[in-house]
Amino acid sequence: MTLIDGKATAARIKAEIKEEVDQMVARGERRPHLAAILVGHDGGSETYVKNKVLACEACGFQSTLIRFEDDVAEQTLLDEIARLNADDTVDGFIVQLPLPKHIDEQRVTDAIAPNKDVDGFHPVNVGRMAIGLPSFISATPLGILTLLQRYDIPTSGKKVVILGRSNIVGKPLAQLMMQKLYGNATVTVCHSRSEQLREECLSADIIIVAIGSPAFLKADMVKEGAVVIDVGTTRVPDATRKGGFRLQGDVDFEGVAPKCSFITPVPGGVGPMTICMLMQNTLKAGKREYYQ
Ligand code: GUN
Repeated sequence: MTLIDGKATAARIKAEIKEEVDQMVARGERRPHLAAILVGHDGGSETYVKNKVLACEACGFQSTLIRFEDDVAEQTLLDEIARLNADDTVDGFIVQLPLPKHIDEQRVTDAIAPNKDVDGFHPVNVGRMAIGLPSFISATPLGILTLLQRYDIPTSGKKVVILGRSNIVGKPLAQLMMQKLYGNATVTVCHSRSEQLREECLSADIIIVAIGSPAFLKADMVKEGAVVIDVGTTRVPDATRKGGFRLQGDVDFEGVAPKCSFITPVPGGVGPMTICMLMQNTLKAGKREYYQ
């Protein structure tokens, strides 16, 4: 069994990005600039955004953090997005999700200019990705594909089972995995109403779990030699930890790992790759490579 080290892979990719940025700066070009909008003080979102700002530093990017309180009016947020869309010194920006209930997340996402949508959440980017046109691809699916590539794990012709059909992981991952240019795999998407779930999983060469249900995938659902990718990051109470919680993946790691050829840990697997792919998208935005 090989443990897929997302932290080390992400560090290597960030070093590669930094090298490219150093060359851009040496040629007299501007550093790529990522802006992040954070609304409120949700613990998870604070951590994610802090890590995104740190990753920008590691890559040699400029970053700007824009904060609003929980009670911000939707229109104020939309006005800020319009300002960022028009600001030529900002290459890409994100609005950290989730947003407070009184704000329509889809309206906010739709307001972001597609050529600055480095999260790849805008319907134009989702649609372009789905039909194989150049686009920004959302970071978690891209991070998973990159991990598989960097570990020389073949996907072409393989049976891939994805657990979860979310807009930001399951659906885009299924699209990419089936496309000739990316996964070229045979893809099955399962969800909370799927029958024969165990049988589906047992037939998979690669299982990717993104359902947010701690330790859901058990050893008796995995065939010998399978590759298992765990996207889950649920905070579960743990009094022995400094913050009072630990991150728990969607895979029962202890039981499943001995059966796998490759498996990602939580933390240190897919998570670090997600932020790293946001950096890759920001570099692409900085180089104005969106439409290639
Ligand atoms: N919330 C959880 N994941 C993400 C992400 O990738 N981007 C944004 N903007 N918000 C998130």
